[in-house]
Amino acid sequence: MTQTLTLTRPDDWHLHLRDGAMLQAVLPETARDFGRAIIMPNLVPPVVTGDQAAAYRERILAALPEDMSFEPLMTLYLTEDTDPEDVAAAYASGLIKAVKLYPAGATTNSASGVTDFDKVRAVLEKMAEIGLPLCTHGEVTDHDIDIFDREAVFIDRVLDPIRCATPDLRVVMEHITTSNAADYVRSQDKNLGATITTHHLIINRNHILVGGIKPHYYCLPVAKREEHRLALRSAATSGDVRFFLGTDSAPHIDPAKESGCGCAGCFTATNTMPLLAHVFEEEGKLENLEKFASQNGPSFYRLPENPETITLVKSEAAAKFPKKIHSDDGPVTVFDPGFDIYWAVAN
Ligand code: NCD
Ligand code: ZN
Repeated sequence: MTQTLTLTRPDDWHLHLRDGAMLQAVLPETARDFGRAIIMPNLVPPVVTGDQAAAYRERILAALPEDMSFEPLMTLYLTEDTDPEDVAAAYASGLIKAVKLYPAGATTNSASGVTDFDKVRAVLEKMAEIGLPLCTHGEVTDHDIDIFDREAVFIDRVLDPIRCATPDLRVVMEHITTSNAADYVRSQDKNLGATITTHHLIINRNHILVGGIKPHYYCLPVAKREEHRLALRSAATSGDVRFFLGTDSAPHIDPAKESGCGCAGCFTATNTMPLLAHVFEEEGKLENLEKFASQNGPSFYRLPENPETITLVKSEAAAKFPKKIHSDDGPVTVFDPGFDIYWAVAN
């Protein structure tokens, strides 16, 4: 017996496509299922100006296979030198859909991020005025704060003060990993949404550390305790319009992950929709998958939903996904949930 589920074509509201050979390799993995994605600007060097975002957008479109359609939604990387007028012009032209805040040193390629939040005040005020969302990597970087507490402390020390000082600023708390973050989103009545990744609905910190270290489960923000994973599942599957999918699919070649100092990032572009169907079905909330993956994101970003649909099919035999994607830079391991998945996207 097969079961099918047809949804409005989904979007990914947080995606790393990289550049060059890696872009070429990973873009089809997303474009196969997703209509659009918010493209992270943490290249080396980062995408800081409107001109750089326009050039990166062209490189993405040039890498898109001819038989696929996909719209990259560009972002700018916020630095202490970002010019509010450049940001406003890039938004007015339709080029960018968000600005990304990385606290300096918080994650992969974040060295040019923000240390002194007073220095970005003028940009944030301009964004509030024009309605341009701020996407936040919500972790403090203080050495004395435990890595498992960094998201909760960011909410108290950085995010809430920014939102109190600039209440009209529209903010996306990206890749939330704690019940603290989900509760904070629910406690606010406007201008706040949150993305949740596929992998944070599936793994907790034991998956990374028990029985040997699993570098392909290491990402930032790092997966937390089981109680947090359950809180994220409840938020994602609730249908609440403030929670939507941002996979944070973040490809690194295997040697960079399987190393004495492994990079953070899980690569989930290839199998995200089947994994999500599995999770939502387990929670008895399959009917809310379309809200999470296809409707709540466009609603926050004030964009139309995609006109196309995709169909997921559940079979009796386990679906087969590639273990690795080949890139000319090296192999990229696809996220392995550790259990069989019976859903697949029909093509
Ligand atoms: C991302 C990357 O590799 O660029 N890594 C990750 O663990 N998620 C950066 C990020 O979004 O934090
Ligand atoms: Zn990311």
